Amino acid sequence: MAKYLNIILCLFLLSCTQEQAKQTVQTPEAIQSLPALHIQPATYVLGDIKEGEAAIATFIIRNNNPEAIELVDIQASCGCTVAEPDSYIIGAGGFTQLKVAVDTTAKQDGIKKSVFITDSLGNKATATLTFNVVSNPHLKMGSVKGIFDGQCASCHFEPLKAAIEPSKLYEVGCAMCHGEGAVGAYAPDLRHHDTQTLKTIIAQGVGKPQMPGFAVKHGGPLSEQQIHDLANWIASLP
Ligand code: HEC
Ligand code: HEC
Repeated sequence: MAKYLNIILCLFLLSCTQEQAKQTVQTPEAIQSLPALHIQPATYVLGDIKEGEAAIATFIIRNNNPEAIELVDIQASCGCTVAEPDSYIIGAGGFTQLKVAVDTTAKQDGIKKSVFITDSLGNKATATLTFNVVSNPHLKMGSVKGIFDGQCASCHFEPLKAAIEPSKLYEVGCAMCHGEGAVGAYAPDLRHHDTQTLKTIIAQGVGKPQMPGFAVKHGGPLSEQQIHDLANWIASLP
């Protein structure tokens, strides 16, 4: 039933558009120039993507043919690209979405990937995705000693030295792992520890490369005073 309603609606819309076409400024050439199999946008510009994260874009595939089509071939230019339409069948004048995802592992700089689409009437169209892969320091996690080492230090060590306010210190040094307000994220919730336990753990760490000792004497960036204030601040959180 829904199908018939659809067809009736389509016919109705079609007659309306034909009516309007006579009145609107669109020239016959402009109408004819629409590709039978139309990808919108033809090129999707995604900007910067961190290496290892998927580049994802959704295209619209329009069927400007007077009859329904089936997408019979969808080929990506590289095995790293997956392209999946919501539907392989597109009614006359209808459209479907095409989701394209590119794996950026081990890629660098400017990347252009294309997906080649062919319909059952032999029409062809290309959906292109461009993006820039920027380096992702977190990919090398396995090969480093810890968050204070090498290039990791520029974000996980240096900014902590200058942070005096405990809330600010937490923000630049802990929130990225323990979450805003210490409620837990990648690393555990910190709100159930007393001040003394917090001081000890912050100073000495837990023996993991992600959570080394933050005290200067354990190779970290924080003074006794900073740790004292930070522990008190965390213990006071609701
Ligand atoms: C450019 C700044 C920067 C550098 C360099 C950096 N990190 Fe991070 N790190 C962050 C930020 C910001 C987060 C919070 C999560 C996010 O935004 O990816 C984070 C989160 C983390 C996490 C929590 C897990 C996660 O991905 O969310 C770990 C573990 C980590 N970093 C380890 C490292 C190690 C090890 C290095 C060095 C190889 C390093 N980081 C280099 C900024 C950095
Ligand atoms: C790069 C991620 C990362 C950063 C940054 C980080 N931690 Fe951690 N933290 C961890 C991980 C991982 C654990 C251990 C989880 C486990 O034992 O499995 C941990 C454990 C802890 C614990 C013990 C929690 C428990 O219940 O066992 C405390 C307390 C703690 N961190 C405080 C801090 C404070 C305060 C800061 C900021 C100065 C900080 N951490 C920065 C990742 C991080």
